[in-house]
Amino acid sequence: MSIIEKAASRIDSKKPAAPDAPDAPVAPGVPAGTPIIEAAMAARAEAAVARSLASASPVIPAAVAAPAAVAAPAAVAAPAAVAAPAAVAAPAAVAAPAAVVAPAPLKARKQGVKKVELDLNRMRDMGMVTAAGGRTMLVEDFRIIKRPLIKRAFSESADSTKPANLIMVTSSVPGEGKTYCAINLAMSIAMELDHTVLLIDADVARPSVLRTLGLPAERGLMDILLDDKIDLADVLLRTNVDALSILSAGTSTPRATELLASQSMSNFVHEIANRYPDRIVIFDSPPLLLTSEAHVLATHMGQIVLVVESETTTQHAVKESLRQLEGCNNVNIIYNKTREFPGIEETYDYHYG
Ligand SMILES: Nc1ncnc2c1ncn2[C@@H]1O[C@H](COP(=O)(O)OP(=O)(O)OP(=O)(O)O)[C@@H](O)[C@H]1O
Ligand SMILES: [Mg+2]
Repeated sequence: MSIIEKAASRIDSKKPAAPDAPDAPVAPGVPAGTPIIEAAMAARAEAAVARSLASASPVIPAAVAAPAAVAAPAAVAAPAAVAAPAAVAAPAAVAAPAAVVAPAPLKARKQGVKKVELDLNRMRDMGMVTAAGGRTMLVEDFRIIKRPLIKRAFSESADSTKPANLIMVTSSVPGEGKTYCAINLAMSIAMELDHTVLLIDADVARPSVLRTLGLPAERGLMDILLDDKIDLADVLLRTNVDALSILSAGTSTPRATELLASQSMSNFVHEIANRYPDRIVIFDSPPLLLTSEAHVLATHMGQIVLVVESETTTQHAVKESLRQLEGCNNVNIIYNKTREFPGIEETYDYHYG
């Protein structure tokens, strides 16, 4: 049995079977030929492997080594509790949203884009991708994960309403690793010589990109959509990683879903997708099954990355998410926080061989 088959059987044995299709893959309902990546991401350094969910899709193994200190995810709802989106229980460990603090008045910044300093040592210690961290397993894993996304971003036949360089990272329920994957993907792409990255915190109700990076809250996406006198340059954050800029979620508003569905948002995504030909834009999104924002956001995207938490998220939840993503271009799956796949050495050899 190959390493990929071993992983596949492990995945299936951990997943509750769908009542109507006991052997169904995790991702039914995806149109035939839709490219799907599934990457197994380790919550411990020794674990990882991947398999393709769609029979016609390429198999792209990836191993993501997280620090050994990272705790195993909290168990979430039993399958029966995931019958409807509203019944999906959030993992106990999900943190409360950070309060959005209003920064200095925007007018003062008109002279130039604000620059923030990412603490790269702290990020490396947190198990995140950094150029200074060397060639770790994590770096290798995100190299494998990003490759097809980048390729598609610049080779898709033009769809002016859903540019392929707009990539949304989402999940079914909270805590599956959206922000972790979005930041690592952004860092990994920013290490490429040929691309720049704009990382947007689009989890507007529970923004966490800046907090995860140890940075204070800033104005951002919602402020641009709320006030047409504010433009991207007013609120964009350049970083000490030259190719990486960040846009925070900005001021919290109960009108977030309407704003994300607005013409202003369509104009905004058109602008950011097209202004720089080498730019990839990564959106850290809310979970699909608990919010309406994620679904609306997805309508603008050329590529979707659905993070699925290993041994926690049910098939039913994943199916429901994929159903919500029907009509979206290029849905990919990252299978996250896997642990203890036997034969991991084979995958490791694959990376470095
Ligand atoms: N592959 C991984 N290895 C180790 N730790 C991980 C991995 N993926 C996520 N985590 C950790 O799991 C926790 C939840 O991740 P994260 O905040 O990225 O989830 P999320 O889906 O963005 O959650 P929310 O829906 O609340 O925004 C964090 O502590 C993160 O560092
Ligand atoms: Mg998050």
